[in-house]
Amino acid sequence: MSSMSIIGLGIYARAIGTRAIEGGGATAGTFGTAPAGDIVILAVPYASAVPVVAQYGDALASKVVIDISNTFTAPDDTALVTPDGSSGAQEIAKAVPASAHVVKAFNTVFAHVLVLGRPLDVLFAGDDAQAKASVSAFIETLGLRPFDVGSLEIAHWLEGAGLLMMGLAGHGAGFNIALGVDVVSDVDDVPEVSTDKIAQVVRSYIKLAGHGSADGHRSADEVATLFADNAIFRNPAGGDVHRGIEAIRNAYHSMWDGREQRVDLVSLNVSGREAVVHVQVVFSGQRVDVIDVMTFDEDAKIASLRAYT
Ligand SMILES: NC(=O)c1ccc[n+]([C@@H]2O[C@H](COP(=O)([O-])OP(=O)(O)OC[C@H]3O[C@@H](n4cnc5c(N)ncnc54)[C@H](OP(=O)(O)O)[C@@H]3O)[C@@H](O)[C@H]2O)c1
Repeated sequence: MSSMSIIGLGIYARAIGTRAIEGGGATAGTFGTAPAGDIVILAVPYASAVPVVAQYGDALASKVVIDISNTFTAPDDTALVTPDGSSGAQEIAKAVPASAHVVKAFNTVFAHVLVLGRPLDVLFAGDDAQAKASVSAFIETLGLRPFDVGSLEIAHWLEGAGLLMMGLAGHGAGFNIALGVDVVSDVDDVPEVSTDKIAQVVRSYIKLAGHGSADGHRSADEVATLFADNAIFRNPAGGDVHRGIEAIRNAYHSMWDGREQRVDLVSLNVSGREAVVHVQVVFSGQRVDVIDVMTFDEDAKIASLRAYT
């Protein structure tokens, strides 16, 4: 495995150093001494990065230099300081010895989130395949998931993503966030769920809805067990969205408690993991037609339910 050293002794150097030492692959570096190992992490502010790299000069020959810098303008973080058509990483690449390879990485991961030890995604960009392979392997040793985003030209967009993180953080999401890649399974890989099983869940749902008159609370508790943990419920369509079992249980509690109603199934169509259910709800002398559109997860739990009246 590659060994690495870090230039800089600030917040990020400590965060990444801690994780690297836990992963067993680091030698702690001291600023000013010749960097040890194959990988050198440049953990200084972008404004200092080029002069620092120039100062190290040939000590960086043949090294893989990881540039983690964010290049947004202070103090408002709304633009990048680098010239149009370039990036911090590309400017740093011009300053390292010709035999060194710069890889942009980690700039989209906040230091205080990194130290939590969670399995985060790390996006990286670079021009040299071998250098990227060793950065990718290094990222894995930290218990993180590497994602190659392309050549060093793409570093500009990674730096833009750093800006995006600041925008997210400053406009409601807060700073305890991490950028992740959701790899969605190929449609063909989605496990099938039997039509009978889905129909059975729908019938249980309708039966419980019809019980609402007798014991609204108990029925609401039971109906919640038919939903997936992170399910979405909207009744009627266009109304409030209830997310997660707890919110869904509460929504049914307030909807059904003490309400006399009967629910008659008119038609049920199941296709794949979707069901369209036509019921008539009879309450307070009224008969209301309701169309429920449901989707199901691989355990035949209701993933979403939208009711149209
Ligand atoms: N913190 C984060 O969450 C985060 C997230 C993504 C990317 N980054 C990037 O990570 C890099 C480091 O950030 P940080 O948060 O660790 O900052 P920091 O806590 O301020 O640490 C910066 C380090 O760089 C050293 N340094 C600055 N100028 C230098 C120079 N001319 N020569 C030698 N050393 C110099 C500082 O030494 P002195 O203290 O002696 O000045 C300090 O050890 C930055 O490029 C930042 O954009 C940070």
